Amino acid sequence: MIAYRIVFLVAAFCNVNGEDAYLPSYIKQCGYNDPDFASCVQQQVVLSLPQFTKGIPELGVPSIDPINLDDIIIDGNGLKLSLRKAQMHGLSTVHVTDLKVNLKDESFNLTFVANMSVSGVYNIDGRILVLPIKGDGDCLILADNTEVEISSKLTFVKGKNGEHLKLVTPNYKYQIEKTTFQFENLFNGNKELSDSMHQFANANWKQLMDDLAPPVIKQIVRTGVKAINKFFNKVTAQQLINDYPHN
Ligand SMILES: *[C@@H]1O[C@H](CO)[C@@H](O)[C@H](O)[C@H]1NC(C)=O
Ligand SMILES: *[C@@H]1O[C@H](CO)[C@@H](O)[C@H](O)[C@H]1NC(C)=O
Repeated sequence: MIAYRIVFLVAAFCNVNGEDAYLPSYIKQCGYNDPDFASCVQQQVVLSLPQFTKGIPELGVPSIDPINLDDIIIDGNGLKLSLRKAQMHGLSTVHVTDLKVNLKDESFNLTFVANMSVSGVYNIDGRILVLPIKGDGDCLILADNTEVEISSKLTFVKGKNGEHLKLVTPNYKYQIEKTTFQFENLFNGNKELSDSMHQFANANWKQLMDDLAPPVIKQIVRTGVKAINKFFNKVTAQQLINDYPHN
């Protein structure tokens, strides 16, 4: 045991110039054999999330608040809508409502709730239900209490300095409580038409979000999982988990 510790210390010391990096100080290890491993992980995730979402430059982990979204173009059901230069804000203030990590079953289930906002430049032309809508300019979409549930396989991959955790094939579902749209310059800035359209769109938000939410949520999950895997790729399971058994 002592010999193992010494070897491990030397190995850790040598890592200064190697691929692997140290854990940021705000992330504490959880014990592999701790009966409360799952709640320890949940606590660590909750505590480190506000920092983690800002990115860890020394490990090459990018910030995920905001997330720059790819252009979204919707054309169907009599409506053409494009959203460009869009950014999603809000991941740093998510509330983790459930997290179940089981290393033996290789499962990872995370549920969080967030007030998310998407800002961008829109162009819209067509109809929402029966009402014509037309305009282009800046927009802000506020999705209140958006719940996202991610379930993923959590596997181990061998690296130069040990094993690394990796999330693979994440599945997700989501639910949005309410959405508010703010489209600037609707109907060339005609205030009356714009006000009544906002009232109508906000009352019938599901109609628009059925098309808008799926590509946005998909990008959020993909970007979030990518950032987590980048982090996992830089630190070994041994660094992350106390008494981690494999080698
Ligand atoms: C994770 O979620 C999946 C799908 O909802 C479920 O089948 C599985 O039992 C969950 N795992 C844990 C550890 O809760
Ligand atoms: C979202 O905002 C509402 C209203 O300000 C607040 O009551 C709620 O707790 C917020 N939800 C989250 C997940 O922050």
